[in-house]
Amino acid sequence: HRHLLGIENLSQADITAILDLADTFADLNRQADKHADALAGLTQINMFFENSTRTQASFEIAGKRLGADVMNMAMQASSIKKGETLIDTAMTLNAMHPDLLVVRHPQSGAVDLLAQKVNCAVLNAGDGRHEHPTQALLDALTIRRAKGRLHRLSVAICGDIAHSRVARSNIMLLGKMENRIRLIAPPTLMPAGIGDFGVEVFDNMEEGLRDVDVVMMLRLQKERMDGGFIPSEREYYHRYGLDADKLAHAKPDAIVMHPGPMNRGVEIDGTLADDINRSVIQDQVEMGVAVRMAAMDLLARNLRARVLQPV
Ligand code: CP
Repeated sequence: HRHLLGIENLSQADITAILDLADTFADLNRQADKHADALAGLTQINMFFENSTRTQASFEIAGKRLGADVMNMAMQASSIKKGETLIDTAMTLNAMHPDLLVVRHPQSGAVDLLAQKVNCAVLNAGDGRHEHPTQALLDALTIRRAKGRLHRLSVAICGDIAHSRVARSNIMLLGKMENRIRLIAPPTLMPAGIGDFGVEVFDNMEEGLRDVDVVMMLRLQKERMDGGFIPSEREYYHRYGLDADKLAHAKPDAIVMHPGPMNRGVEIDGTLADDINRSVIQDQVEMGVAVRMAAMDLLARNLRARVLQPV
């Protein structure tokens, strides 16, 4: 592959290859010396048009650990503010010969569009409600390490499915790896027709969580609700917030996940989120660096292979 734009374009073999390489980087990241030279000589530009803590920090750390020259565009201070378009901004940076462009954008499809205009490899760091492929890959690696496998698991994805690129990418990845997926959400936050994608749909946590291996919680993404239905946080927590009582319906060894940023007391009980016997939320963050190292390493190998191809 030339770019990493979504899980949609990846095969089961692609996913396994990324996770296997990420496993080796996860080991490296626990060493005193965390450096490798897979991206030495390459230039990585991070363009985040939407707020981020985990994704931006981990892409920057990943690039630096692999020896790339990493530049973070401060989008708030860029000429976007003077009316320059996304494509003109990308073309301008493209003229400086970057090798890897990491892009987050509030509009679904913006990253795909940008990828058609530049010569370098583009990685989607989250576009609107469309895809967040490295999030799904880091979730998959976390599940595989915790459960010892990534197939024939029962996974519940709970909360604001309708506005979630994390849910979309995870539904595709977990489906490709042959897991059972249960979606739990209030009807107003469940996309219409989602049942056609081979998932089971519930509007009740107790039923939806029954005997699952993995519980994945999602934040209410108010920034994408366009002034429409925004549930009362109190009521939402009562019905859909994950606490020990609701988790008791899952398997006794079920793990609890959350992509972050989390709102304690809205979609998840803070004590449960911190319970290292059940919660793998910090493991997800750790695996985020390893997965992003693997994704950029594999794309860089393709870049180098293309440069070496006779014309
Ligand atoms: N999970 C995630 O994408 O977090 P950030 O928005 O902080 O990057």
